[in-house]
Amino acid sequence: MLIPLLIAVHVVTILLWIGGVAFVTIIIFPLIQRMGSSFDAVMLFQGVEHRFARHARMYVAVAGITGFLLLFLMGLQRLLFTKEGIGITLMLIAWAFYLLVLLFEKRIFSKVFGNPEKFETKQVFRALGAFHWFVLGLSLLAVFAGVWQGHGGGF
Ligand code: HEM
Repeated sequence: MLIPLLIAVHVVTILLWIGGVAFVTIIIFPLIQRMGSSFDAVMLFQGVEHRFARHARMYVAVAGITGFLLLFLMGLQRLLFTKEGIGITLMLIAWAFYLLVLLFEKRIFSKVFGNPEKFETKQVFRALGAFHWFVLGLSLLAVFAGVWQGHGGGF
């Protein structure tokens, strides 16, 4: 009972987390990029990201705890960084990447938006949009490979 329960909690957490990343990437970013005023764009971006970051911290914690418990309870740790363990390896890489971004979030924001007279808003949002697509792609790849391998698919 414990393993199915952990998988269910893990997957629901991933749904909320990556669903949120997808919403910001696919809906909010194009909206921000189409805004006329750069001040409004920066305010909307910071409002959305600050609010989502609070949720994301909880998702990273729950996904990490349930993920590591599953890894050891199912004895899958020996598959990490092997062909048979591509799914869980990608999960771990995606999770570690988000953890780093969240840990250094304040420093990244102050670098990107700290000197308003020095940056070109459109260029910054184009780069941030591309970064979100990269993170979303990595996450979806982890979901795809995890489900594929978890249900008998081979690589
Ligand atoms: C510390 C990080 C993580 C660890 C150690 C971890 C580990 C695991 C393990 C051991 C399973 C069960 C695999 C199986 O049934 O064969 C699992 C399931 C799953 N994980 Fe993770 N995970 C982590 C983070 C993530 C992340 C970041 C994502 C998505 C971006 C993700 C998506 C999934 C999905 C979709 C499943 C269900 C697969 C199925 O259909 O059975 N996990 N995870």
